[in-house]
Amino acid sequence: MKKQWWHRTVGYQIYPKSFQDTNGDGIGDLQGVIRRLDKIAALGANVIWLCPVFPSPMVDNGYDVSDYMDIDPCFGSMEDMKELIAKAKEKGIRILMDLVANHSSDQHEWFQKALRDPYGKYGNYYVFREGRAGGPPNNWRSIFGGSAWEKVPGRENLYYLHLFTKQQPDLNWENPELREEICRIIREWMELGLGGFRLDAISHLKKNYDYEDLPADGPDGLCLAFDHINNVKGLSDFLLELKEKAFAPSDALTIGEYDNMKPEDVEAVIGENGSFSSVFDFSHTHHNVYYPEWNGDTLGMFNDYRDKLFEAQKVVDGRGLLCNFLENHDKNRCIDRFLAKEDRNPHSIRMLPVTNFFLPGIVFLYQGQEIGMRDFPKKSMDEYVDAPTHAEYEEFLKKGLTPEEALFRINSNSREHSRTPMQWDGSENAGFTTGTPWFAVNPNYTWLNYEAQEKDPDSLLHFYRKLVSVRRRPDLEETFIYGRLIPRLQDRSGILAYERRDERNRILVVTSALSEEMRLPLAEADATEALMNESELLLDNYETAPLFEKGELTLRPWECLVIRLGGKERGTD
Ligand code: NOJ
Ligand code: CA
Repeated sequence: MKKQWWHRTVGYQIYPKSFQDTNGDGIGDLQGVIRRLDKIAALGANVIWLCPVFPSPMVDNGYDVSDYMDIDPCFGSMEDMKELIAKAKEKGIRILMDLVANHSSDQHEWFQKALRDPYGKYGNYYVFREGRAGGPPNNWRSIFGGSAWEKVPGRENLYYLHLFTKQQPDLNWENPELREEICRIIREWMELGLGGFRLDAISHLKKNYDYEDLPADGPDGLCLAFDHINNVKGLSDFLLELKEKAFAPSDALTIGEYDNMKPEDVEAVIGENGSFSSVFDFSHTHHNVYYPEWNGDTLGMFNDYRDKLFEAQKVVDGRGLLCNFLENHDKNRCIDRFLAKEDRNPHSIRMLPVTNFFLPGIVFLYQGQEIGMRDFPKKSMDEYVDAPTHAEYEEFLKKGLTPEEALFRINSNSREHSRTPMQWDGSENAGFTTGTPWFAVNPNYTWLNYEAQEKDPDSLLHFYRKLVSVRRRPDLEETFIYGRLIPRLQDRSGILAYERRDERNRILVVTSALSEEMRLPLAEADATEALMNESELLLDNYETAPLFEKGELTLRPWECLVIRLGGKERGTD
């Protein structure tokens, strides 16, 4: 693999609205990010992904952009953005912005002009179609629920397409003029010194406009037509054009929100000449111990998570790098997802990030993950503000769940849990704002906050700092990035283990999701006693030394170990 600057990425994702408010309006802002840059640097991150900060009516918290070349006043100004880029650079941190190019806001000037003249220049920036039989052009369902088509106000039989909310009309990527415009926008941002972009909903740019109704997949008679709106043939032509014209000239890091990569597509997507630098690995995002399909089988779920992680790596097979993460702004917190209530303890919450942090790829942490922020279940749906969360609740009701059952489901998986304000300290509103926060702070901030953990050398925050420092240690970093991956002990329920190996190092990562001790003959992990005796313990989650003797390793409940194997055999490949 040809080496690239961004291969060393340890990223930190910021949801600006909830990160740090500096002017008392209850909304996080760019000056807030600048104020907290030291904390991100102390964690060891070298890239920040900033969720959208462009002007927006905020129907989808910024994923509805009304001007791609400015900053929303609630976040600050262009000057603040330039200051952030410059100050981050001084600390060795590059900034990624979030490119939302599958759709714009309905308030974007382009769309407003398009509404006035759907058959004119800007009409061709969007997807307008005549309705059929007195209804929409077909029965596609929007990803956020309801028909994907909205009637154009004041027109007899005209509709526009929106794969997300109706305030997010899809852009027409078939139009070369639109594509050129997006490339120009990207180039202008890159000239300001950005590190690159995270690419929102990028696998949806190409649609298969086949207007036949599809068999309904729900009681609403609609169909979530993924085959027609996701990874459609021809998508890669758009992506490669974008890469060549917009990203490649400035060597940008681009991370695509692109799921389900097929083995035959790996080269084209993240290979050396692929469309993106990397794509997020979503293998873990369907795991939640409170989803009915797991039926409370936490170990079964953990084993499945392990197998999916290894499967995703096998698909890539060293031809590119995935972006490994556990949390983002679209998922609830990982502690709440992966661990049943009775299983949450200081060992288990440290074990979780180790499961994927040392896999091949680049890594991303999400704000608050480093202090173990938690979900904040609500007593009523009124306390949720996110439109798709409400739409999901309605879907549950339609499927026959009682209001209590539907609320339970929302409470155990809503993406809004990750959007509660960052808990900086134990003062009112967790130090996030001096005003009224736009979204309620989790009341656990009194004990769960950054300041308290910073003072406590045994805290989760310090564990995360250690995690990053191991990952970035100069004599190990290349092994973690480019070394071979050898899954270990895959037939042991509750154990997720792997080795990373190159000519310099052999590093064994072992994690246990078991609540009891488990004895492992070292031979099963292909780690002889000699190798273990001369090894270096890089990271663990117990205060006392690991228990290995006489060819056996006794893993304690929820233990995780990262060990550089020693001795003569080290580094044989
Ligand atoms: C994915 C983003 O991560 C999510 O937050 C957003 O709602 C949709 N794309 C639509 O832009
Ligand atoms: Ca503010």
